[in-house]
Amino acid sequence: MRAVDIITKKRDGRELTRDEIGFIVRGYTEGEVADYQMAAWLMAVYLRGMTRAETLALTEEMLHSGAVVDFSSLGRPRVDKHSTGGVGDKTSLVVAPVVAAAGVIVPMISGRALAHSGGTLDKLEAIPGFRTDLSLSEFRSVLEKTGAALIGQTAEIAPADRKIYALRDVTATVECRPLMAASIMSKKMAEGINGLVLDVKAGSGAFIKTEAEAVELARLMIDIAREMEKEAVALITDMNQPLGRAVGNSLEVIEAFETLRGRGPEDLNTLCRELSAEMIVMGRAAGDIEEGRHVYDEMIGSGAAIEKMREIITHQGGDARAIDDYELLPRACHERIVRAQASGYVEAIDAKAVGHASMLLGAGRASIDAPVDLSVGLRVESRIGDLVASGSPIVTLYFNDEANVEEAARVIEGAYTLWPHAVAPPELIKEVLR
Ligand code: URA
Repeated sequence: MRAVDIITKKRDGRELTRDEIGFIVRGYTEGEVADYQMAAWLMAVYLRGMTRAETLALTEEMLHSGAVVDFSSLGRPRVDKHSTGGVGDKTSLVVAPVVAAAGVIVPMISGRALAHSGGTLDKLEAIPGFRTDLSLSEFRSVLEKTGAALIGQTAEIAPADRKIYALRDVTATVECRPLMAASIMSKKMAEGINGLVLDVKAGSGAFIKTEAEAVELARLMIDIAREMEKEAVALITDMNQPLGRAVGNSLEVIEAFETLRGRGPEDLNTLCRELSAEMIVMGRAAGDIEEGRHVYDEMIGSGAAIEKMREIITHQGGDARAIDDYELLPRACHERIVRAQASGYVEAIDAKAVGHASMLLGAGRASIDAPVDLSVGLRVESRIGDLVASGSPIVTLYFNDEANVEEAARVIEGAYTLWPHAVAPPELIKEVLR
């Protein structure tokens, strides 16, 4: 078999066999297929799509590129959640400690920033010393001690996704349903979980723009989970504006800590509550969703969730004092307020543009190995439905380097649409698919 023939076949819109998909995935993971060939293949998939059978084969080949962990000896149900990506989405930093505090094991493999969206791993690395590159035995040991561990794809677990994810980020091949489904499900099925809660985002800041496409992606991932004999539930959620107020790694960590203390923004708290309730029910720590919500409130209200976060940080090598002293987190040196150009109700926010503005300040990765400035980002001061007066703040930018600040401010100005009449904010949770 030759990679070039497999690229040609997909370029011409033909269905690939499992052996062909296995050949290209294994070859790329082991370094025998070059970046440029994988990039061409990914673009062919992006343009031509994949059948369900191809997507399942891709997921299984990516899953078996590394170890499939067996945590059944831990004795308790193991549940995780994954989001398809958005702007300001820091829910993992809240739900993992909440659900672990409720007695369910959460073995979480996350990703880095992808295109304009943030990544859980980059956010966690804003906590001084926090290690996301645990070995398999360290992953198991943290889970045994704390009930939750948050790591990245490694050379041992989901190595194919580690390489392909980074390549997609710089080859404009992120927004592709079969590639997203295989990326997400291959790493999640490697975690040895019983069940998975999916947060499938639709809107201007998501990789999927419409609710109908989000439902299709959700159904595809639920089918893959069922095929692998795992439980799965998907929430279709709104991403037509950033989630919460903070965008940028260190800023989002602070907002997650505040949410764990019961002081988070309402939309973020609502979404974390629903996702956690689903996970808690799936992990048999509550009988139904209403009871799951009650457990969430108890874990937040009693301080158990923030204490669990402290344990996780300590066991993953981080400085848990940052939970109480935000000065220990990376901080940007300067700020600049972007103001409304006119008066009116905020009708729409281009959340993707907001993510780009944050990247311009240094919060995202411009190329495959580029460093991320963990301290920079922005705060959303005005959200959809708010009435703003001309000259009032819409976004505050936090930055270190002046170079792109004016451009970021212009991007933000262009991202806001004002309207003379009252506007209802979008519904946050649109549908739950079981
Ligand atoms: N999250 C992932 O893990 N992979 C994708 O492709 C998109 C979001």
